Amino acid sequence: MASPDIQTSRQASRPATRQDCLALDEADPLAPRRQMFQLPPGVIYLDGNSLGALTHAAERRVQQTLGAEWGTDLIKSWNAHDWIELPARLGARIAPLVGAAPDETIVCDSTSVNIFKIAAAAARARGERHRIVTELGNFPTDPYMLQGLAALVPGLELVCVERDQLEGAIDEQTFLVVLTHVHYATAEMFDLATLTAQVQAKGARILWDLSHSVGAVPVDLAAAGADFAVGCSYKYLNGGPGAPAFMYVRRELQADLQPVLSGWLGHARPFDFIDEYVPAAGMTRHRCGTPPVLAFAALEGALSVFEGVDMQVLRRKSEALSELFIELVESFGADFGAVLASPRSAAQRGSHVSFAHPDGYALMQQLISRGIIGDFRAPNLLRFGFTPLYLRYVDVWDAAQGLREELQRWRTVGPSAVVRQSVT
Ligand SMILES: Cc1ncc(COP(=O)(O)O)c(C=O)c1O
Repeated sequence: MASPDIQTSRQASRPATRQDCLALDEADPLAPRRQMFQLPPGVIYLDGNSLGALTHAAERRVQQTLGAEWGTDLIKSWNAHDWIELPARLGARIAPLVGAAPDETIVCDSTSVNIFKIAAAAARARGERHRIVTELGNFPTDPYMLQGLAALVPGLELVCVERDQLEGAIDEQTFLVVLTHVHYATAEMFDLATLTAQVQAKGARILWDLSHSVGAVPVDLAAAGADFAVGCSYKYLNGGPGAPAFMYVRRELQADLQPVLSGWLGHARPFDFIDEYVPAAGMTRHRCGTPPVLAFAALEGALSVFEGVDMQVLRRKSEALSELFIELVESFGADFGAVLASPRSAAQRGSHVSFAHPDGYALMQQLISRGIIGDFRAPNLLRFGFTPLYLRYVDVWDAAQGLREELQRWRTVGPSAVVRQSVT
């Protein structure tokens, strides 16, 4: 589904020009949001799906936490500045972005740890069922955490299958299905409501990894009746490197979900310092230890850029930016061996686009060296993220042009012997 923004601003029959893109930027209702970010000059940032850009609000909030709070009020800040409630407070701020109620979400730990926490708690309540099902090719931390859990819990079986085999694999032995809504490599998007209903019809629960959805794709966990969810806050939510993750548990399931990582801050009365663990009510029981306050402060500031944003408007711009990029790159890409590796239909795609190319890593390094920052995902994907709050249509045009020049250069000079760095 093409965005109306793009259709109305130029004729669909000819390729977009740079001029068209400038006109689209003029008419873009989200354009003013770009000023809320600190973007280095000369850079086109197409990696907000991996690490979101710094917001002015995050910087201010961290400064305030350092100076007026930690630096001045010292330990009194836990009460005076309500540091202790940061996990619940930020959970409540993220809730509307995923269609959850404020008391169904909490911010704590990392996405990896939260996957383990939910799966382990679900395993504890699983009854006779012993199987967890997930997708082959899922972002690796999801199956890795589940492999760790399976090694720990006698009799627990982990089944990993291709996407088209999922339905058959979920049976009366399955207590949990773990899926990533938007695929990290291809951006292929599950129909969250349909899959949730399918899983629940088999008597199992579903855990959605929303890392590549939250802040980019409207998600309605309540409408879908989803059971559990987790997700990163350092991608489209711009919380900063290593920002704490969120987790969601549907309200009706909260009382029966007993934490396995039963830390003191998940206790009903942590400052009673009693020997026996008693889980707190609601989502609070899923806190383990002390929250990293500086990281929370950055996320708290960053979340303010979503205030007043209509997620449907944001989604339409995300689709339009992605469609534009695909259209431009496909007008030359095939001649140079660059092939679309994401779904062509916007309705089945998240907010990033991947092109496969045999020399993808070296090409991406070249693009980065000229200020067009995307990333590479093995074995051969050039991945480009489209963040509607700070990207312009003209950036997309310039990025596609840069890619065309690099592909032309690549054809002339041939594959380069670039040494792969540890983070790609
Ligand atoms: C789908 C998905 N889940 C989880 C993670 C990472 O989790 P963590 O923050 O624990 O490293 C990523 C990181 O890119 C991801 O894409």
